[in-house]
Amino acid sequence: MKLTDYAKHLLISPNLEDKLLPPSRFWDEEVDFNAIRIEKPGRNQNLQFSDKKIKIPRLEHLNLESNRGLTLHHFANHELMAIELFAWAILAFPNAPKSIRNGWVKTIEEEQIHLKLYIKRMNDFGVQFGDIPLNYIFWKQLNQFHSLESFSAVMSLSFEGANLDYSQVYAKVFSYFGDNLTSDIMVYIFEDEVKHVKRGVRAFEKSIPPNQNSWEHYLSLIQFPFTPRRAKGYLYFPETRTLAGLDSRFVKELEVYEDEYTGRVNLESVKKFGLGSELMRKNRLDSLSL
Ligand SMILES: [Fe+2]
Ligand SMILES: [Fe+2]
Repeated sequence: MKLTDYAKHLLISPNLEDKLLPPSRFWDEEVDFNAIRIEKPGRNQNLQFSDKKIKIPRLEHLNLESNRGLTLHHFANHELMAIELFAWAILAFPNAPKSIRNGWVKTIEEEQIHLKLYIKRMNDFGVQFGDIPLNYIFWKQLNQFHSLESFSAVMSLSFEGANLDYSQVYAKVFSYFGDNLTSDIMVYIFEDEVKHVKRGVRAFEKSIPPNQNSWEHYLSLIQFPFTPRRAKGYLYFPETRTLAGLDSRFVKELEVYEDEYTGRVNLESVKKFGLGSELMRKNRLDSLSL
């Protein structure tokens, strides 16, 4: 199979099982590789894009299994979109260096594992994937993806970057409620997402002009109304960005960045979880058997 055929398969096939087909280790040679921009993925009826606003359960309510299941459903949707959009990038940027393309393939493989982990665990909580409407927040950014650098700035530095914060928050809160298995899933995914952001940093940093620093370059690659707010959670764990290879200036600029949405989350209500700056890392993954 050619890599482009595999990417098309992930994008066009409507079934979830098709989107979970792992990549091959070897690919047939590409000839005549033109840029293809697919506007929308194939999806079965229960996985269609929806404009319905579905709120993620509040952290205080994650003592209930049903709310944990709904939360994982929300995260699973991000994984599905990531699988599709890294496949999208393979087709849209045929001139990407081989190392970057191989990174996207590896990321797809890892996102597929994440999606399976979330689905398996939400099923334990009585939730099936597709039970609640799926937003398409990542797909909405398609017109931002002019180049592999802007794709990496939005997908990896921003969305996957924010996921570093959220996976830490949820690992801690699930653990607070005694659900170590779900907490371990979050930590496992966190460790992979550090690698994903790192791949994005590699794709992005080569293009930093000599008269700009990485933060300025990042700002030049994203377009309003998309702002750096998307690149962090309501709690920010700067150490995670350093782990992902971002330089100290970028890490600090992101920390102090504010816009009109800043402060909308009531942080008082999450204080009881003791969400300190210390990170939960993979060395405590005992209960997770993959
Ligand atoms: Fe993921
Ligand atoms: Fe990822």
